[in-house]
Amino acid sequence: MTVALIVLAAGKGSRMKSDLPKVLHRIAHAPMLWHAMRAGGALTPERMVVVAGHGAAQVTQAAQAFDPAAHVVLQTKQLGTAHAVAQARPALDGFAGDAIVLYGDTPFISGETLRAMAEARKTHDVVVLGFDAADPSRYGRLVTEGDRLLRIVEFNDASPEERAIRLCNSGVVAADAQTLFALIDAVGNDNASGEYYLTDIVSIAAEKGLSATVVRCPESETLGVNSRADLARAEAIFQAGARTALMAKGVTLQAPDSVHLAWDTKIGCDVEIEPNVVFGPGVAVEDGARIRAFSHLEGCQVGPGAVVGPYARLRPGATLAQDTRIGNFVEIKNARLAEGVKVNHLSYIGDAEVGARSNIGAGTVTCNYDGVFKHRTVIGQDAFIGSDTMLVAPVTVGDGAMTASGSTITRDVPDGALALARADQTNKPGLAVRLFERLRAQKARLSKKT
Ligand code: UD1
Ligand code: MG
Repeated sequence: MTVALIVLAAGKGSRMKSDLPKVLHRIAHAPMLWHAMRAGGALTPERMVVVAGHGAAQVTQAAQAFDPAAHVVLQTKQLGTAHAVAQARPALDGFAGDAIVLYGDTPFISGETLRAMAEARKTHDVVVLGFDAADPSRYGRLVTEGDRLLRIVEFNDASPEERAIRLCNSGVVAADAQTLFALIDAVGNDNASGEYYLTDIVSIAAEKGLSATVVRCPESETLGVNSRADLARAEAIFQAGARTALMAKGVTLQAPDSVHLAWDTKIGCDVEIEPNVVFGPGVAVEDGARIRAFSHLEGCQVGPGAVVGPYARLRPGATLAQDTRIGNFVEIKNARLAEGVKVNHLSYIGDAEVGARSNIGAGTVTCNYDGVFKHRTVIGQDAFIGSDTMLVAPVTVGDGAMTASGSTITRDVPDGALALARADQTNKPGLAVRLFERLRAQKARLSKKT
């Protein structure tokens, strides 16, 4: 079936108490809007239309960052959900197929649910997504008869009997696009809120002899975000779902509740993740790697069999090849580490390239920043960087080269050379003993005075 998505995202979200438009608040590092757009992606839509209003410039930017082909239309006054959908009409000019309406603040509708709606469209003109609400509170109520949906009543307009119905409206609607717009044309605003309700299309459809039905989904999918507390709840739901999905795919999480994932975290089979690991956006971990406790990763790639942490930080552009080792208190940024490279302790490797099997000693720093520009460090393969080496970039250390511990390397080191750049050592025989004696005597004199 050919599908177009209409994502409603014009509302202000006053209860968020924020300058940021509601749909741009983040869940697992992605704006809520991206979650909604991604959910709709399950139907491989031919067109994606986002209805923006409050903070339209920011919403437009976010929508097109997710999908450069997304059409963003403006709803300058928020006159209701039917009015919002009507704004999508010009963007769907010449489109033939189904339109599916999603809400930008309802991020977790599953692909399975949307496919069930598409299936139900084969036998009904209008399909509404409903759920049995544990607490129906202010949701619109679905009035049904058998599998037919007769009408939707908004809470404010509902009778006590209607308010007793637990089957509620999620807001997601599917219908043939031309039918949908024709139904919306007939929607008025004579109701308790004075708004054009999208929900009215159901009773209008019935009057026109069209059929409507309900597809049900678990309430967790229809969770809407209206406040910061809802946002935190949505984050928890996302995290729980993402952890379960990873475990089902063959990832070991020793303490699942303590691992924080991003919306796009990719983790391969037989990866083991220890407690308290945080994934920022853009991380891929390949098969058989191990991420040890208290590590923080973002925008990086971890190769197969690599071991990261405990207490490691991988920043954007860190690319670790197969069987690399990144140990405690090591930070890697914008650097490619080839197969078998070891950086085991207390180091900063940034804007760098490290060849296969090279060993970077404890306390090594690539001094990449001169206060204005960033410079690169290139280390060849099978090199040995002694502990506490400062590599003042731009600088190159050749294949099989060594740097002596405590060196400050400011010039290139040829292949196979040893670079030694530190002060010579002098030993003074017996001087330590004499110094200790003098100091202890001094301390004794001072304590007598007091
Ligand atoms: C709506 C439904 C209600 C359903 C509930 C589910 C209607 C009339 N009511 O009520 O049956 O149970 O959602 O959460 O549809 N929006 C616009 N422009 C507008 C108005 C709204 O873009 O003019 C957007 C909002 O940003 C939001 C969505 O549409 O993403 C829903 O609007 P909201 O005001 O939250 O509707 P509810 O009163 O919650
Ligand atoms: Mg709402």
